Amino acid sequence: MAADDTRTVRLGGVPGTLLWNLHHRAYEARQSHTVLDDPKAVELAGRIDYPFEETFGPPNPLLAQGQALRARTFDDAVRDFLARHPDGTVVALAEGLETQFWRVDNGRVRWLCVELPETAEVRTALLPDGERRRTLARSALDLSWRDEVDTDRGVLVTAQGLLMYLRPPGVRELIAACAERFPGGALVFDAVPRWFSARTLHGRMRTAQGYRPPPMPWGLDAGDLPRVRTAHPAVADVRELRPPRGRGLYHGALAPLQYRLPAVRNLRPTMTVLARFA
Ligand SMILES: C[S@@+](CC[C@H](N)C(=O)[O-])C[C@H]1O[C@@H](n2cnc3c(N)ncnc32)[C@H](O)[C@@H]1O
Repeated sequence: MAADDTRTVRLGGVPGTLLWNLHHRAYEARQSHTVLDDPKAVELAGRIDYPFEETFGPPNPLLAQGQALRARTFDDAVRDFLARHPDGTVVALAEGLETQFWRVDNGRVRWLCVELPETAEVRTALLPDGERRRTLARSALDLSWRDEVDTDRGVLVTAQGLLMYLRPPGVRELIAACAERFPGGALVFDAVPRWFSARTLHGRMRTAQGYRPPPMPWGLDAGDLPRVRTAHPAVADVRELRPPRGRGLYHGALAPLQYRLPAVRNLRPTMTVLARFA
C-alpha cells in the first residue's frame, strides 16, 4: 500500500469511540469464519496511524464479535429496505468510519452521511465521497440535514452508536423530526439499557482492557420500547431487531437466550430498533 494512503487520526471524546468500533470490527473481519465480511474495514484500519492498542488494549474477541453482529443487524435492515426501495436514500447519522456502504451497496442506493465536522473531515479524507455517497459535516441535532434528503424513492435513517451519547430531549426531538419529515420511512437505532447508561455517567464503566467509554446520557430498557411511539404521532410501529446467531458458546448459544428470558430483558447491553413512520 502506498505510504501516502495512510493518515494520522487523533480524535477524542465521543468521536474517538468510532476508532474503538473500527478496531473491533476489523479484528472480527480478519477471523476465519467471521460473522462479518468487511474487507474495507480491514483495509481502512491498516491505513490509519493511531495508537489503537495503547488506547483500547488488544481487541476483545467477544466484544468484537458482538460489534460485528450489531453491524450485521443494521446491514440486514438496510438490505431489507433496499429490496423494497432499490433507488432509495440511506441517511447514516453519525457514521464514523463505518464501511456499511461497501457491504450493502446495490449499485443504485443514494447514501448521505451526517457527521460532526471533526469526524466528517477524517471520514472524507479516508473515504472520499462518491457519485452516490456524500458526507454532510453537521450535527445530527441540526435538523437542517433533512433538507438535503431526496424523499422521492424511500428513506431509511440509521443511527448506529449515536443516540446513547445524546441527552434524552435531543433523542426525542431527533426521532420526532424523522417521523415528521419522512412519512413511509423508518429509523434504525441501537440503545444501551439504563443501568449501563448510569454506570457510564458515574465513570464506573471500564472494559477489561482498561478503556473507559465516554458518558452515555440516554438509556432505554427493552421494557420501555413501546414508549418510543410517543415521540411523535407518526411513529406507527416499533420493533426490536435481534442480532443473528454468532459462533462460539456466548454468541452462538448464550446471547440468543437473552431474548427469551424475561428476567434479563432489561439488562441486555444493546438492542436494535426499527421505528416505522406513517
Ligand atoms: C460510537 S461512534 C459510532 C460510529 C459508527 N456509527 C459505528 O457504528 O462504527 C459515535 C459517532 O457519533 C458521532 N457523533 C456524536 N455526536 C454526533 C452528533 N451530534 N451528530 C452527528 N454525529 C455525532 C461521532 O463523531 C462518532 O462518529
